[in-house]
Amino acid sequence: MGRKFFVGGNWKCNGTTEEVKKIVGTLNEAQVPGEDVVEVVVSPPYVFLPFVKSLLRSDFHVAAQNAWVRKGGAYTGEISAEMLVNLDIPWVILGHSERRQLLNETNEFVGDKVAYALSLGRKVIACIGETLEQREAGTTIAVVAEQTKAIADKVSNWDNVVLAYEPVWAIGTGKVASPAQAQEVHAALRKWVHDNVGAEVAASVRIIYGGSVNGGNSKELASQPDIDGFLVGGASLKPEFIDIINSAT
Ligand code: G3H
Repeated sequence: MGRKFFVGGNWKCNGTTEEVKKIVGTLNEAQVPGEDVVEVVVSPPYVFLPFVKSLLRSDFHVAAQNAWVRKGGAYTGEISAEMLVNLDIPWVILGHSERRQLLNETNEFVGDKVAYALSLGRKVIACIGETLEQREAGTTIAVVAEQTKAIADKVSNWDNVVLAYEPVWAIGTGKVASPAQAQEVHAALRKWVHDNVGAEVAASVRIIYGGSVNGGNSKELASQPDIDGFLVGGASLKPEFIDIINSAT
């Protein structure tokens, strides 16, 4: 069976109640292919999760932008995977490069988070990607393989994992990876999964691209054989997110 196209919208730390209502209104009116063709997940800041979930059309789903690594407790400022279960939030983004870089999340910590969220039945968008320095040093594949290994070391069932390849140099910079650059890394990642996890997982796991995706470049990126969708930041706050979803067909 083919891999269903996946489009995630990561709203990051943006939005007011009024802005959120407006974005959801645009999404709810949009003409897009059905759930059998494209899976759409939007990720508002935590405080808006229940609100967005209550307003959002039923064929789109919501994701948290992070969850604590273990059972909740005395961890000020964190939210737990148990809370996501309680609020019926099916997805969570983990290991985003902004958290890896700004909050010092290590590969191992991200691997533990992915495993814990999965153990509570959450679906995970697990982010990996190299910095500009690493790309220029020629270590891109080694870096993303190591990040993926830290997840593979802790996870045995990949059914609920989407891997998001997001080169750090392409995030929020307007410098999108070329379709060939992205395809090269996606293919190498799929090979890594094939060789280190298994052929079946390699064939079925969705590897999505993130980094300055917009309504103008999504179609060509989507045509690459190993690009199974997108994790979109800035453009997910704008009506062009609909064009990105429509690049699934
Ligand atoms: O999670 C999304 C990525 O960080 C991409 O962000 O589309 O604003 O470059 P961007």
